[in-house]
Amino acid sequence: MALIPHRLAPRLTASLGSLALLFGGGALATLGVTAVGVAAAPSAQALQNTLARTPQMGFNNWNSTHCRAEFNEDMVKGIADLFVSKGLKDAGYTYVNLDDCWALPQRDASGNLVPDPVRFPHGIKAVADYVHSKDLKFGLYSSAGTKTCDTKGFPGGLGHEQQDANLWASWGVDYLKYDNCNNQGVDAQQRYRAMGDALKNTGRDILYSICEWGSSQPQTWARDVGNSWRTTGDISDSWNSMLGIAHANQALAPYAQPGAWNDPDMLEVGNGGMTDTEYRTHFSLWAEMASPLLIGSDLRTATPATMEILTNKDVIAVDQDPLGRQGTVISSAGGLVVMSKPLADGSRAVTLTNETDTAQTVATTAQAAGIGGARSYTLKDLWSHRSTTVRDGAVSAQVPPHGTAMFRLTPSEATDLPAGAYQLSDRAWSKAQNATGPVERDHSNGGGASGDGRALSLNGTTYPKGLGTSTGSDITYYLGRTCKNLTVSVGVDDETAAGDDSAATFRIYRDSTVVADSGPRTAGQGPLKLSADLTDGENLRLTATSPGSAHHVHADWADARLACGDGPKAGEHALSDLAWSGSTNAWGPVEKDTSNGEYAAGDGRPISIGGTAYAKGLGVHAPSTVTYYLGGTCTSLTTDVGVDDEVGRHGTVDFTVLADGVAVAHSGTAIGGDAPVRLTAPLTGAHELTLQVTDAGDGNTYDHADWADPVLTCA
Ligand code: GLA
Repeated sequence: MALIPHRLAPRLTASLGSLALLFGGGALATLGVTAVGVAAAPSAQALQNTLARTPQMGFNNWNSTHCRAEFNEDMVKGIADLFVSKGLKDAGYTYVNLDDCWALPQRDASGNLVPDPVRFPHGIKAVADYVHSKDLKFGLYSSAGTKTCDTKGFPGGLGHEQQDANLWASWGVDYLKYDNCNNQGVDAQQRYRAMGDALKNTGRDILYSICEWGSSQPQTWARDVGNSWRTTGDISDSWNSMLGIAHANQALAPYAQPGAWNDPDMLEVGNGGMTDTEYRTHFSLWAEMASPLLIGSDLRTATPATMEILTNKDVIAVDQDPLGRQGTVISSAGGLVVMSKPLADGSRAVTLTNETDTAQTVATTAQAAGIGGARSYTLKDLWSHRSTTVRDGAVSAQVPPHGTAMFRLTPSEATDLPAGAYQLSDRAWSKAQNATGPVERDHSNGGGASGDGRALSLNGTTYPKGLGTSTGSDITYYLGRTCKNLTVSVGVDDETAAGDDSAATFRIYRDSTVVADSGPRTAGQGPLKLSADLTDGENLRLTATSPGSAHHVHADWADARLACGDGPKAGEHALSDLAWSGSTNAWGPVEKDTSNGEYAAGDGRPISIGGTAYAKGLGVHAPSTVTYYLGGTCTSLTTDVGVDDEVGRHGTVDFTVLADGVAVAHSGTAIGGDAPVRLTAPLTGAHELTLQVTDAGDGNTYDHADWADPVLTCA
């Protein structure tokens, strides 16, 4: 009895509650991270220093030299030279970084850090200048402690943050790696924020690489402090070390975003402790995880295989993709690990890693990778650089022990529309051209800017949905092969003065075949209904032309209804056993097999009209519509209708059955207590069935309306 306000709030809370449960039980468990962490992940702001919008790329000497004497000015300059001459700079490598051991063990009398004069006889600024002269950037190292990590103990930045940051800025430092040794137990956030603030205060853009080894879950706090944070202890040049780090870092995908990256440590590619197959896995996984790519081998002695790995532009493009998402593990049974990384163009980067010691087939699907449903895909192998087309979305490779196959999977043909009825103006066209201004959705063509039209109007009938064009228009939609039919009312919009004898001709093409042609239509002539068979067509094309006329006429495609896919199976169906494609209802949801209780789903009573009880039917509350997709294969609907007995002599309603928007059966006014009225509605050829109930013009109090025992017959 529609007198109390709706109680929507409790229903909403209940459904949100179950959503949270679903997420808590499923998604979080697979990620293996805490609920609090994941919930917080999407909202935190990345450090806004405009740096590392994609993961940083460069070189760091540590993995190849540690503190040995060959770490010196010649090496750093040599690397900068090779960045340019060997195409590394072109491939995206920018930063040339020094690690530990660049300084003397003691600060000078003013407390400043002093470059080691044996390694760097011209000082650090000279090296930075040299690197900058190659249009590259320069990075340095320190520790958020009293001393750095090397056993010789070089001075750390703790308590000297601003003084050190100022000195580095004066040398032209563009990047700081800030380590965690000798931290005196001071809180990590406090130490790393202090240096972050000091770097900011210099006014110089300095990329801030936090190296805290993942000790205090930096992913939960470092995103607005630094541009990246180490997630694990140090990598070493072995398969087990690299793989262990990859596993730890894989779980942290939700925390990565442009400007703020998980850092699984620098690359070991080329240092000799792994095979080239293993190094390709290392490089593939680091790119898939949107990791900083810091070359850690001495490029002056790198093999061609090492150079080929490090300069693989297809793999680097995955790492550097502007969407900035870290790939996630989508399956990992028996040491066969599949990851998927969403890319900005809608593709997915997929890695198939064989962690076992024997060759294996590793396989996944486009569906599992997150982009199922397209008619076909381009599958590019990012190591062989060859592309193939796959129809079924299968991604599979024979992968050697410890190897990784890496692909870029791109939908190459649009997704088929699922079965259903659609208004064409709700779909995206694949191309559209119009003589004056853009094609308008759900408005006539104003001739100027987008949205300047009026309601679509043909000889006094207005239409809420459709396309407004002017003659000379040509619009194409890609449909896939599932659509069967388009019905549309065409004509010259009423905004063209009656008596204007210039005409518009409307043509519908299925691919290149004309399947409907309106002939010339003139202003004031009113709508002409066209029906076009689209069976087996992939593209739908609509043209409006104006033969022999110099000026453009406003040509409307009104109420353009697209029918795609199959309707119900042949035979008789109780309507309440089928899924509707849409419904509107004044109070509560439409009920299956009960009257309408006005509030929650399932709150109705057995259907009863004029003393007759019905086991099956739909209980609605006027005004209401319930829509079913028929697919053109049903022949009729029979149903009883009336006001439910639960409201006594109250309630007046009016029932109409529509086929593709046209009334095919009508009850007249029904009042509470009346005997049921039997309706038979012919539906042959119709694609959409609509059951409509109005309040019969007297307001909708007590308007509990039943579609009792409705039976749909389909061929
Ligand atoms: C720590 C870091 C390494 C390296 C060394 C230098 O171990 O994690 O990456 O910088 O210190 O001493």
